[in-house]
Amino acid sequence: MIRVLKAAACALALLALPAAPAAAQTKAAPSAEARIDALIARMTLEEKLGQLVQMPGGRQRTPNSRINDDERARVRAGLVGSYINVAGAKESRDLQKIAVEESRLGIPLLFAMDIIHGYRTIFPVPLAMASSWDPAVLEKAGRVAAVEATASGLHWTFTPMVDIARDPRWGRIVEGAGEDPFLGSAVAVAQVRGLQGDDLTAHDSILATAKHFAAYGAAVGGRDYASADISERTLHEIYLPPFYAAARAGAGSFMTSFNDVGGAPVTANKALVRGILRDQWGYQGLVISDWMAVDELRNHGVAETGGDAAALALSASIDMDMASNLFPTQLAEKVKSDPSLLPYVDEAVRRVLMTKAKLGLFDNPYKRSDVRREARSMLTAKHRAAAREAALRSIVLLKNEGNLLPLSSAVRRIAVVGALADDANSHLGSWRARGEVEQVRPFLPALRAALPGAQITYEAGASPKSDDASGIARAVEAARASDLVLLVVGEDFDLSGEARSRSDLALPGAQQALADALLDTGKPVIVLLMNGRPLAIPELAERAPAILETWFLGVEAGPAIVDVLLGRVSPGGKLPVTFPRSTGSAPFYYSHLPSGRPADPDLTKDTARYRDLAITPLFPFGHGLSYTRFDYSDLRIEGEQVPADGRVTLSIIVRNTGSVRGDEVVQLYVRDPVASISRPVQELRGFRRIALDPGEAKRVRFTLTPAQLALWDAGQWRVEPGRIDVMLGSSSADIRVRGAFTITSAARTNEPAAAIPTPTAEERVR
Ligand code: BGC
Repeated sequence: MIRVLKAAACALALLALPAAPAAAQTKAAPSAEARIDALIARMTLEEKLGQLVQMPGGRQRTPNSRINDDERARVRAGLVGSYINVAGAKESRDLQKIAVEESRLGIPLLFAMDIIHGYRTIFPVPLAMASSWDPAVLEKAGRVAAVEATASGLHWTFTPMVDIARDPRWGRIVEGAGEDPFLGSAVAVAQVRGLQGDDLTAHDSILATAKHFAAYGAAVGGRDYASADISERTLHEIYLPPFYAAARAGAGSFMTSFNDVGGAPVTANKALVRGILRDQWGYQGLVISDWMAVDELRNHGVAETGGDAAALALSASIDMDMASNLFPTQLAEKVKSDPSLLPYVDEAVRRVLMTKAKLGLFDNPYKRSDVRREARSMLTAKHRAAAREAALRSIVLLKNEGNLLPLSSAVRRIAVVGALADDANSHLGSWRARGEVEQVRPFLPALRAALPGAQITYEAGASPKSDDASGIARAVEAARASDLVLLVVGEDFDLSGEARSRSDLALPGAQQALADALLDTGKPVIVLLMNGRPLAIPELAERAPAILETWFLGVEAGPAIVDVLLGRVSPGGKLPVTFPRSTGSAPFYYSHLPSGRPADPDLTKDTARYRDLAITPLFPFGHGLSYTRFDYSDLRIEGEQVPADGRVTLSIIVRNTGSVRGDEVVQLYVRDPVASISRPVQELRGFRRIALDPGEAKRVRFTLTPAQLALWDAGQWRVEPGRIDVMLGSSSADIRVRGAFTITSAARTNEPAAAIPTPTAEERVR
């Protein structure tokens, strides 16, 4: 459990916060501690340091390929704690057997792999699943991944990535939940729960990792691995909350990030790791470095030798060195010359062993390496169905002029254009663990199967992978001979993900030229976007009558897109990140500060905006249309005068006034209009995705606490008295109802405001 911020710092009343959710996995049986103490007492320094390294056992697509006789000898000597990319029930069991039965102390190994959005059953990329605004989708995806991966012998995964990403140039935006710390916290909690389940010792529970701690997404210029140079307030209010939420939900491990924060590389950052994570938050789980990051401290220019780098990382409270192999090879020497490092070694070893105990590995090290379970667990019909449901809920309708969508049944001749329409590989997105391209159902064949009577012609036209425009003429011909064009454009999957930053958010290759040529035909063009980040596509957004954001939707991408196109399901996803109008305006996020000269559409004034660009986003945070319409009415606020330790309930009626069933994500934003420091113009503090039949209405209720309005100032969280404005609506830019309440007293609080969940409920009304 999280120990709250030090009470000593509090001069004002410290609010009593709800107890942290039970985190079954954080407690090992008391006997485990005694067992570990006894084990540590028997360990040589070399054996201890061996536990502190994770070695590569292969690559993700070729696991076990590095397991040779040398590695087996290392295991036999008890000189390794964990492997990344050892997988397979048999392979993992064989290696585990050496550790348990042939090494002196018989300490089991931990097997890890990146399972970012599915193991064999590949779900939509995380940014897509965040677009569902439905944490249950992410929880289920995590559960399916855990069931499959553990059957292959895996104990540990490096998910969730909870980095807030406000800059779409950063390629890793695809791996997270977008720009908002409140949504990001809810998603992080769901992912941890899904992966770890209720009981970490269960054969199908896998240890989750909150990564990359911290501020990795704030890379300057959106360049992966670059510095984060942000204020302390931005760190605490924006980048840290999802980590806090993940820790509170019991995430068994944390991974530190590659970047430096204001010059202090995180892998050696005592203030961040030992200070905030360990001392302030009381986090007891395992902290692992990122890949080779200990060694990279030399590149950062804070360590001269590998030994210095290892000592710095260990001192900062990194327990395990991923891949650089410096802890086992360099620390023995360091400890001899500086015995003050020894307690750090013991502390790290204890965390590694406790993690193994929490997973039940000392009791049954082979539980997760089960050949029969492995054979029957992969990509089952149930897992596919969960992936389909996730894909359906992730799709966002960005534009739908004249209700062009869903497709009318009168449409007989359809031209499908774009290389991405039949690109099973891209549907899998970045990081696909053990996913197989052959098992993906791509869009084009799914459409043909759904419309056997239609005449569907296909032309690649252009591809995101090349500048070749020679296919455009044929695509135009196909469009002319059709009633309607389905244009599939965006990014190849390999343009987002790690080390895949882009300086230009436009459509790559000749795709914009293709789009222009098709739009020039005068035929209705429906755009299906496939991409791993927000794109700056102002011309397309202006000219195309309908745009569907489909991201990379995984194995069931095709059928899910078809279900939405044909109106079997109304789209209900919302953007978890702003789409800017131009790359030059990135980072461009909704929750900005007001400025002394707030941006004004009128260019005759000098305000906070560009001369050459509209100040509005292309598509705002929280945006997403439906095939039906929703009406908001009757805002009620109970507790309009609320003391700092009180609560206020806001409720609103949402009615489906259209003619089909649909989902709406009701969003609650707050603003503190006058405070001791400037506060954002909007901050998300509640959301709920509801389904409504035509004519049906529900009252949606949010319970807020003033602690959720706390601001970070001078090293602490503070609630200030005064008026709070509330905004309820369908997106950050589509606010339907406004109200206010007043906080009547001051207080110090002890949790990041955006990490505190808002209890939400709904009830049907007549
Ligand atoms: C990434 C991590 C990942 C690790 C292991 C690194 O390059 O930054 O997110 O978990 O590799 O594959």
